[in-house]
Amino acid sequence: MIRTAVIPVAGLGTRFLPATKAIPKEMIPIIDKPTIQYIVEEAVDSGIEHIIFITGRNKSAIANHFDYHPELESHLREKNKLDELAGIRELVSRARFSFVRQNEPKGLGHAVLCARHLIGKDESFAVLLGDDIINSEVPALKQMMMVHDDKKAPVLALQEVSPEDVSKYGVVAGEYVSDTILKLSGLVEKPEPKAAPSNLAIIGRYILSYDIFGFIKETNMDTTGEIQLTNALRRYKEIYGLLFQGKRYDAGNKLDYLRATVELALERPEFREPFSAYLKNLCK
Ligand code: G1P
Repeated sequence: MIRTAVIPVAGLGTRFLPATKAIPKEMIPIIDKPTIQYIVEEAVDSGIEHIIFITGRNKSAIANHFDYHPELESHLREKNKLDELAGIRELVSRARFSFVRQNEPKGLGHAVLCARHLIGKDESFAVLLGDDIINSEVPALKQMMMVHDDKKAPVLALQEVSPEDVSKYGVVAGEYVSDTILKLSGLVEKPEPKAAPSNLAIIGRYILSYDIFGFIKETNMDTTGEIQLTNALRRYKEIYGLLFQGKRYDAGNKLDYLRATVELALERPEFREPFSAYLKNLCK
């Protein structure tokens, strides 16, 4: 059973400047929910009970968001805004939250390593990246847990991307062992399109074993001074990729962020009718 998730949130969010100058990129909302809340909800809906944020300077708003707020709560109670009150209390009560500071910007591999002292030696755990918002019927992490239960080996989320986009992702080589599951034989971080082994990209969801910490320690920094998780993953003897069901948005990309806002709004009953009428008019 996977009960712990690591969520790295130390990044500076430069793709979303100027919005991210004074607030963490993870707190930028899609409609009325910070993007990080979508990630946390996917994790708890998949059965995660403990969330470890790997955090950095100027990220205290994230800790505040996942904590009780007695003043606000009594205000909502007095004003009889009971739905809002239940919403903010429920989020905090659904998991335990821990915070570890990543005090050097040494990449995703290093961020994951920062959680080592909070993970049991026999424990497998999830890693979720905050930029990847996945909208699906069955939470994407839950889909991966089912593969992990079956294979008893690490699992990565995969998605096909267009060949010119492979250089933005970790890219895999492997053999299909079912319609949607591949046994992986190669992993390359951000390859040039010509050197890419496929157009199957790693999306920010991983189920890993404790061994990853040893592998990260053995992994050299790349030319940018970062320890890439993808390079450490290559040391697993057996590792799988799942082409998950669902739509993924890159919340750090402004166009994709806009798409996520429109599409997720259209899924909410209170917006569906007025908003689709508005869009139809706009596009006439
Ligand atoms: C990270 C990983 C990359 C992965 C991507 C998914 O890259 O290093 O392998 O494909 O997340 O979003 P980043 O987007 O942080 O540069």
